[in-house]
Amino acid sequence: MKKFSFAIVCILIFIFFSCSIPGALDIPENIDYIKSLAGDPKDSGSWGTIIDSIPYNIGNTFWINPQTNTTDPQTTRTISWQSTLDTGEVIIGETHYQAVTVQDGSQFFHRVDLTGLAAGKTYSYIVGTEGAYSPVYSFTTGSSGDNFSILHITDPQIGTGTLKGDSQVWRFLIEAAVKKFPDAAFIVNTGDIVNNAAETAIPYYFDYAQKVLANYAFVYSMGNNDNVDWYNKYFTVPQNNYDAGDDTKSALYSFDYGNVHFINIDSYTDLKDLQIDWLRNDLKNTDKVWKVAMMHEGCYGNKNDITSLLDTYNVDLVLAGHEHFYMRSRPMDMAGYYKLNGTVWTIPNVAGTKYNNLPSPKPAYYVINKQPKLPMFTEINFSGTTLTLSAYTFDMMTGVIASFDTYQVSKN
Ligand SMILES: [Fe+2]
Repeated sequence: MKKFSFAIVCILIFIFFSCSIPGALDIPENIDYIKSLAGDPKDSGSWGTIIDSIPYNIGNTFWINPQTNTTDPQTTRTISWQSTLDTGEVIIGETHYQAVTVQDGSQFFHRVDLTGLAAGKTYSYIVGTEGAYSPVYSFTTGSSGDNFSILHITDPQIGTGTLKGDSQVWRFLIEAAVKKFPDAAFIVNTGDIVNNAAETAIPYYFDYAQKVLANYAFVYSMGNNDNVDWYNKYFTVPQNNYDAGDDTKSALYSFDYGNVHFINIDSYTDLKDLQIDWLRNDLKNTDKVWKVAMMHEGCYGNKNDITSLLDTYNVDLVLAGHEHFYMRSRPMDMAGYYKLNGTVWTIPNVAGTKYNNLPSPKPAYYVINKQPKLPMFTEINFSGTTLTLSAYTFDMMTGVIASFDTYQVSKN
């Protein structure tokens, strides 16, 4: 009888706790590996208390040659991560690549530049050190063909609402995007990774979407809500020539993929003299079919040094963010007037939770300007001489990915 009573009590206790944990199902199980091992992401001040050696904040991008500000997506990657150990490596097959490690407080920032990789090949890798390695991730280097797709997202802005809530939206959005386009060559994030430059939100950005961030190369433009003081530590791409206190340096870089020339423009550095010269020289010297620029805050409709260069050198598309609504412009010149084969600007709403109202009146050069109040992503497909932009909304509640906008342009 005693045993029976004890069992009843246990069952009642179990039911009580099962029903009384608010939000117990907020975060799906077995998704976030740091969480599964060490609890929720910690703020930077307490990272030293994460189970000592687990690699976290793992990033994957193209290696930028610091001498030329260019890269080769077919043969290079930079893998970066943090841990609380003073050493680290990337292992691919039998090969160990020793990391360059820098200490910052109780954390260590590790980085391995992989060059000389084979084009169009899938590499599986782990990061960490003996006894403390990450799960296995993999990436595929760029192929040399002219048919490929990239994904564009912007403004996850983790910390706008709650850290967990924003992170879940970010995670589900980016997972939906790569589920629909698993062969995406790389992913452009045009900035505002966190809200109010909060470094404490960075682990959430990485942890909730760690698989995607480790498996795909990400290319970043820094947003006004990001902070140069810590940006260098986590995001290696734009920083090769960056110095927050030096107006002669900026986060400008470019690279070719297939028959497309990509160029990153820093919206917030004084783009004068050296930067403008660099931009002009870069645009002048490319013979690629397509020219695509990336920047956080678009300067469309304003005749200035940047729009003048984009117009002069016939940049086809600018991937931007900052506005927190969906926008696509008409092909236009530096002043916003329609121009055949002019520059099209696009903003794919947000990959987070902050939705802005639309401007009123609508600028004349906006072809489409909507606020679906859903996170979005855009696929841009390059197929020889045809460029196709396809924007999608993602509804977390239903899992539905819905077509939102399409635009196509061809060159002969
Ligand atoms: Fe933003």
